Formats: sequence, structure tokens, C-alpha cells
Amino acid sequence: MMSSLSSAAPWWRPSTGRLLAIRGGTPLVGSCPISGAKNAALPLMVSVLLTPHLVSLRSVPGNLDVAVLASLLQRLGCEMHWSSTEVGLAVTIAADRIQPAHIDRDLVSRMRASVLLLGALLARCGEAHLPMPGGDAIGLRGIDFHVAGLRAMGAVISLDGGTIRATAPHGLQGADILLPQPSVGATENLLLAAVLASGRTTIRNAAREPEIADLAACLTAMGAHIAGIGSHMLTIDGGHALAGAVHTVLPDRIEFGTLACAAAATDGELMLPNGRVDLLGAAAPLLDAAGVEMREVDGGVVARRAAGGLRGIDVTTGPYPEFATDLQAPTMALLALATGASAITETVFEQRFRHVDELRKMGADISVRGRTALVRGVARLQGASVTCTDVRAAAALVIAGLNASGETTVGGLDHLDRGYDRMIEKLAAVGADIVCSDGNG
Ligand code: UD1
Repeated sequence: MMSSLSSAAPWWRPSTGRLLAIRGGTPLVGSCPISGAKNAALPLMVSVLLTPHLVSLRSVPGNLDVAVLASLLQRLGCEMHWSSTEVGLAVTIAADRIQPAHIDRDLVSRMRASVLLLGALLARCGEAHLPMPGGDAIGLRGIDFHVAGLRAMGAVISLDGGTIRATAPHGLQGADILLPQPSVGATENLLLAAVLASGRTTIRNAAREPEIADLAACLTAMGAHIAGIGSHMLTIDGGHALAGAVHTVLPDRIEFGTLACAAAATDGELMLPNGRVDLLGAAAPLLDAAGVEMREVDGGVVARRAAGGLRGIDVTTGPYPEFATDLQAPTMALLALATGASAITETVFEQRFRHVDELRKMGADISVRGRTALVRGVARLQGASVTCTDVRAAAALVIAGLNASGETTVGGLDHLDRGYDRMIEKLAAVGADIVCSDGNG
């Protein structure tokens, strides 16, 4: 797989070594720029399939998921030109000759967001064949909402032998779709399909994550007609040929919240250029209550531990603007160090507490009952050997390791690579004692 990644994403460098070694206790101090959002960049890259004209994306984060999607797009016939800019990577993509051929199973199995190719390819080419997508092992993560919505638009879809076969024999037509839950991916998939489908599509109970608004903004710049952006009901008047566009990816609110937690956990002070408190939704007042001070300044946010120290809070995750499930694990690492107890309830994914056992190895006092984790803060964590179980668990373990006494070794680094743009480099630049090793030393 490495060779296909390096031809599609020449900037991609995996973490060199199998383990991350962190010596905790150093306060993080300095400037740590926030990259473009992974969860915005992925659907934006897929949106290029909707037009034969050039689309340029700026501030694209250099992570493994983006590299895998670049490789998938290349196999579909897209031509890509990457460059490095002050605000991250920029890519110009030409999708004028698309081959909706079978897509590489290995690549798709690495990334859940590859399911977005379904809506875009169906809309542009009238067919799509896709292996069942992979991604984090954090729940059932069905694609039934995606499939039901596309079927309502006239797609014929069968799922057999681990492959999704979809055709639109009479093209896609607008439909009135009610999502059973405000699913981020299903909203994006149906939005991508709807802009080329003939007539009007209404997506009710749509997800409202800022990354969806970012996708809608780019599609609008390409000439799509979308009303209700940022609300629970999107109305799309489809069927207009789309032009090219130039679009800057929204800053990553999850990376921002994670680094703010890291500043507070280490009792440091980080300037986070491009960080946006307004994108955090319910997480902004809750992190503030936990003692993560976030002061908006020109061009970003300064984050540090509040004078009163870290305090236990109760958190319940939910669809935006509720507390982001992607911040649940990093916040748990922080609250493991707070004075008092915290109750963390996960409502979005059914298996998103797999980091708990790893944090316990480091001395965290956490017990899980059903969907709620009860965290009793301890003064300090201790270094241990731990393994990342998903992207956000990886961030949590890094935060815990930055606080812990002694050395923490973190395995499963692919997960960190998947979700974050040069995280290790960024943390080392603000004083973290963090290095990749081969595990022998
Ligand atoms: C996206 C994000 C992920 C984030 C999640 C929730 C990307 C690339 N990933 O994932 O980081 O944690 O939103 O904010 O943007 N569901 C079904 N059937 C479906 C679709 C979803 O049952 O057809 C369920 C899922 O199993 C899950 C819930 O709905 O329990 C929410 O999932 P969804 O919002 O779709 O998450 P993703 O788009 O996969």
C-alpha cells in the first residue's frame, strides 16, 4: 500500500518506528498551529468527483486518512497536484476522466469515510462498486441510512460478499429523506448525491456539524443550490452542472480541543493559531468549567490551565452542537487528573470506551457502567506501555503520557497518523519529550 500512497500523496510520511516514547511532566509552551479539519477535508476531496473542472483545496491536513483517500481518488482516474503552503497542504484535483471501476479493497477497508464515494460516484457516473468500508472499531457503524437515502433517490443497491453494488439505471432523482439519526456521513453522502440528482431533495434530521456546512459552502461555490446550511433540514435543488472552485478547509475543532486539553493537562500555555472556540459547541463551556482556559486572541486562541486548577465535570456526547464524541477520549484523559469526579456518557458510538483500560494502566481511576464512565481524578498518572485502539483514543493516550511520571510507550501509531497532521512534530516543537522508536531501546 505504501507505494500507492506515495504516488498519490507524495508528502505522506508515516511515524517512523513502531512505538512512541513520551517522558511526561514538561509543560507545553509555544505555538502550535491548528490544521484543516480531517472530517471536512475528506468529504471535500470526494466532492471533486462531481465536476469535470478543477477544484483546489487549501489547508488540507497531512494525515493518513487524507493520503488513503488521495490514493483511492487516483485509482478512480483523478489527477492531483499537491503543494506545500504556509497554511498546510494545497491540492488541485482534476476529475475529468473518472473510471468508476472496482475500488481497492485494502484501501477502503482502512477508512470509513470511503463510503462517501458511493453517493458521488452514483451521481456522476450512474454506478459504484465499493467494498464495505472500514474505519475505527468503535461501534456497529452501519451504512443503512446511506443506503436507504440513495435508494429513495432511485439507486438500486445490493450488498453481497462484502461488496456494495450500486447503479442508478434512470439517474438519481430528488427525494424527501428523513434520517433516523442525524448521521454525519449519511448527510454528506446524500448531499453529494443530491446536488447532481434531478429535482429537489430534502434531507430532514440532517446532521449539523460544521464540517457539513464547510462541504455545503464548497458545493455552493461550485454552483450547487443548497438551502438550510447549518440547520436540521437541507434542501437541495439538484441537476445543475457544477463548475470548479477554490476552497480553504475549515480548521480542525477536534485537534484544537485536543491541544487545549494537552496545554491544561501539562500546566503549560499554548498559542493555537486558527483555533476556533465558536466551533466547539457545548464543549466550549464544559472545557472551561473543567479548568481549560481558552482566550481568543488575534488569529487564534491561547489555551492553558485555569488558575483554579482542573475540576471534574459531567459530559454527555451527542450530535453537534452537543459535546463531540471525538473529544470524549481526550477529555477523559484530562478529567483523570481533575479534582473531584466526572461522569462521561457516550451516546453516539456504542464501543467508544476502549481507551479506558489503557488509561487505567497509567493509574487513572475510571469505572464504566453501561454508557457512562465514572472518572475520579488522581494527582498524576504514571508511565506505562499502552496501545491506541482508535484515532481519538490515540490522542487521549498522548495527553495522558505528556502528564505522566516516567516513560509512556504508545503502540498502534497508525491510529494517530490517521487523524492528526504531524502531531508528534507539533508537540515536540512546544517542548514535549516525545520520540518515535523501534521499540528495542
Ligand atoms: C463522523 C466522523 C467521526 C465522528 C462521527 C460522529 C468523519 C469522517 N467521521 O463519522 O469522526 O466521530 O461523525 O460525530 O466525518 N449510523 C447508523 N447507520 C448509518 C449511519 C450511522 O446506524 O447508516 C450510526 C453509527 O453507527 C453511529 C451514529 O449513527 O452510532 C453516528 O454516526 P455518523 O454520524 O454517521 O458518524 P460517521 O459519519 O461515521
